[in-house]
Amino acid sequence: MPHLLHLDSSPRGDRSVSRQLTQEFVQMWQDHQNDHTITYRDLGHNPVPYVDETWIGASFTPPEARTPEQQEAIELSDRLVDEFLAADCYVIGVPMYNFNVPAVFKAYIDQIVRPFRTFGMDQGNFFGLVKGKKMLVISARGGDFSAGSPAAQYDFQEPYLRTIFGFIGITDLTFVHAQKQDQDEAAAAASLAQAREKLKSLAIDW
Ligand SMILES: Cc1cc2nc3c(=O)[nH]c(=O)nc-3n(C[C@H](O)[C@H](O)[C@H](O)COP(=O)(O)O)c2cc1C
Repeated sequence: MPHLLHLDSSPRGDRSVSRQLTQEFVQMWQDHQNDHTITYRDLGHNPVPYVDETWIGASFTPPEARTPEQQEAIELSDRLVDEFLAADCYVIGVPMYNFNVPAVFKAYIDQIVRPFRTFGMDQGNFFGLVKGKKMLVISARGGDFSAGSPAAQYDFQEPYLRTIFGFIGITDLTFVHAQKQDQDEAAAAASLAQAREKLKSLAIDW
């Protein structure tokens, strides 16, 4: 029985394109599942805190050796990591902000990319601990960063997400981008329709 973790990170509500698309995909995906469970987390409306110095100390200290302050500082992160590891698959909605992910999503990454929990270290070498999972990232962008377009080189979002999730062991990543969302109406609608088509066929056997 697959367990899905659905994350959204746009601060916008109904006007958010990434939110609309993750919602539509999850609904279609559900329709093709016999049995499944879903956890939803709305990072756009309920951001997680930035890590601080106590958190950093706690993350490198074994649980039994932590001070009460460290324990408190790392508690939410532990829960977020537990939630992340409990999932078999991930559907993530991300707007493009300044060529990358919004700060709320980066704050989430900082909370779940954890030594000993999601990545390991051995004599200076790092290895991912999150195995056998798959991830679908649905992004919305104002401009067009598709392969071969003049702005393609400014897309730091997809390479970053491939790198950071690959670092913790997730290498089965699929990206669907709704490009041109802040361009003229026809261009935005055409790109949105293309993204919806891709998601529709993906939902059948993802
Ligand atoms: C702070 C901010 C930064 C943005 N930076 C970019 C950018 O670098 N490139 C781009 O194409 N669009 C950029 N946009 C436009 C959004 O990516 C676009 O409106 C997208 O649809 C937002 O996702 P959402 O509809 O899910 O909220 C930015 C928007 C905001 C508010």
